[in-house]
Order: sequence, then structure tokens, then C-alpha cells
Amino acid sequence: MSVLVKIQDSTGTEVGSFEAEDEKSLCEMAAMHWIDIMKSCWAGFCWVCLCDVLEGWEAIDENKVGASWFNFEKDKNWNSTQVLWCVWGIKSEMFSDNQEHVVVLKKMY
Ligand code: FES
Repeated sequence: MSVLVKIQDSTGTEVGSFEAEDEKSLCEMAAMHWIDIMKSCWAGFCWVCLCDVLEGWEAIDENKVGASWFNFEKDKNWNSTQVLWCVWGIKSEMFSDNQEHVVVLKKMY
């Protein structure tokens, strides 16, 4: 039904949050809400936008607006523990399952 994305800086302090939208990358959504994310290639290649997923791994779509070029570390349930803001987003089914979801991301820079 809805997905709330909370953003922390590299020290763990929350610096912003937003309601996620389908068909947009995490980077696009953060920019729409004036949350500064370091980025360069916008193509999933340079890793400048890499961040940690602290909560909500199950909601992350690794190929939302582009292909992931590399394999990322997975937890025991095969969920990614890190994301690339520029090409990853929220799974479409998270917007239609009548549940509230929370994703917490921690910037590395
Ligand atoms: S901006 Fe280069 S991988 Fe995201």
C-alpha cells in the first residue's frame, strides 16, 4: 500500500524521509525530497551512490530502472544488504499489497 523510505547519514542520524513511488529510482525520489545523495554515473557502474540497507530489504528491487552490473552481498534470505541509489528502487508489488512498508537506508558518504 505504501512504502516509507528513511535516510540516515553515515553517522546514523536520520536526514530525511519520503513516501516511495513506483517506477522511480531511490536517487530520483531522494532528489525530489531535497535529500542529497552523492552520485556520478546514474548507471549502476561507479558505485559512488552505494549505501547500506538497514531495514526493508524485501522491498528493494535491484533492477528497477537499470541493470545491476555486479553481485552484492546478500543476507541469509538472499536479500541485498547494500543498494545503488541510481538504478535500484522499490518493488512494484509493495504498492498494492495493503501493507505499510518501511525501508531504512544509510548513506556511506
Ligand atoms: S551513481 Fe554511479 S553507481 Fe550510482
